[in-house]
Amino acid sequence: MEFTGHSLPVRRGGESQSEMTELILPNDTNTLGNLLGGRLMHFIDLVGAMAAYRHSRTHVVTASMDHIDFIAPVHVGDLLILKSLLNRAFNTSMEVGVKVWVENTIVGTHRHVASAYLTFVAVDSQGRSVPVPKLLPETEEEIRRYEDAGRRRENRQREHERRMASKSSPNHQTTPPLTQAK
Ligand SMILES: CC(C)(COP(=O)(O)OP(=O)(O)OC[C@H]1O[C@@H](n2cnc3c(N)ncnc32)[C@H](O)[C@@H]1OP(=O)(O)O)[C@@H](O)C(=O)NCCC(=O)NCCS
Repeated sequence: MEFTGHSLPVRRGGESQSEMTELILPNDTNTLGNLLGGRLMHFIDLVGAMAAYRHSRTHVVTASMDHIDFIAPVHVGDLLILKSLLNRAFNTSMEVGVKVWVENTIVGTHRHVASAYLTFVAVDSQGRSVPVPKLLPETEEEIRRYEDAGRRRENRQREHERRMASKSSPNHQTTPPLTQAK
């Protein structure tokens, strides 16, 4: 961690790095013995929040989770390994990348099963957003992730504006029209 002339510190890439390992038990799975998607999203949210806490050292709330693909099933008895890292800090928000692997406990093989980008917002005890330290990208990999995070933020903002515009349109319907009774 380094201090600039401002009150907020500037943090280096690796300072937020977090990892979590979970043994998948029957309570986490569906009727086929595969990990439930919602449970996986919960683990992703937790490990993502750890990176955001380590960067901001404040309370954080999850503002959004981007598109997530469940690439392969995770079975009961597998070890789930989740890693998170801050890609970029903006004003009060931070983008965290999470990658998930499954380890077969018997043969020891690893397989990538999911990835996601989450945005966390730093808040005070009243839930008001507060500024976060800047992230200083140094390695080629960190610079690439930093720039990609900027592009994703622009896409998110465009998509948000598109949704808002469509909601305010007079043709917007939240529920499908009811079929007319004959
Ligand atoms: C997230 C939250 C704090 C944003 O509050 P807000 O009044 O909309 O705040 P602002 O418009 O000032 O935006 C604050 C930051 O959040 C970002 N943000 C807001 N909504 C967002 C979204 N849906 N996706 C990504 N970023 C978002 C803004 O871009 C802004 O970032 P910046 O300061 O780095 O530029 C508020 O919507 C909230 O409390 N939501 C509930 C969070 C929650 O309960 N999560 C689940 C449990 S942790």
